[in-house]
Amino acid sequence: MSHPIETIKTEHRNLDRVLEVLEDSVAALAAAGTKPDLDLLYSTLYYIRVFPDKLHHPKEEEYLFKALRRRQPDSAALLDELEKQHAEGARLITELERALTAYDRDYPDGLAVLQEATRTYVDAQREHIGKEEREVLPLARESLNEEDWGDISRAFATNSDPMFGDNLETGFRALFERITRRAEPSGP
Ligand SMILES: [Fe+2]
Ligand SMILES: [Fe+2]
Repeated sequence: MSHPIETIKTEHRNLDRVLEVLEDSVAALAAAGTKPDLDLLYSTLYYIRVFPDKLHHPKEEEYLFKALRRRQPDSAALLDELEKQHAEGARLITELERALTAYDRDYPDGLAVLQEATRTYVDAQREHIGKEEREVLPLARESLNEEDWGDISRAFATNSDPMFGDNLETGFRALFERITRRAEPSGP
């Protein structure tokens, strides 16, 4: 089993790949001459709901942050801020879902709001992941003991990612293929 720090970093990288598809898909809407198929965008937002928001961030709070608060009381302000960002992320994804639904309903109106909501969400997530990797993970590596890591490891091992995990759920197939294609080198 990989170390929880590696698991968390992998989950971050996967989220970032999803954010890239989100950015690409929203950027492509401006060039579309007719109403585009929005299924990929809906499944992108749905993935963020069911994996990062439902499992990744809550497990950070419940296990990693909790252990760090115990071992490093000085980290409280940093962890409070990151927990605020988790709550803010949930609010921003709701706004993004609303913007997508409104665009779907009122097409071609609502594109600027959707673009803005996407920018805000993606920037906030990247800033959040960066802060965890720069500040929280190194501090955790220094301060937590074997027993702490055992608990964290068991908690993250039960995260079953519906797209990057062992079983790709049917609803995420198109999004996963898009992510895989994006990673391939393009052209000679
Ligand atoms: Fe987080
Ligand atoms: Fe995280």
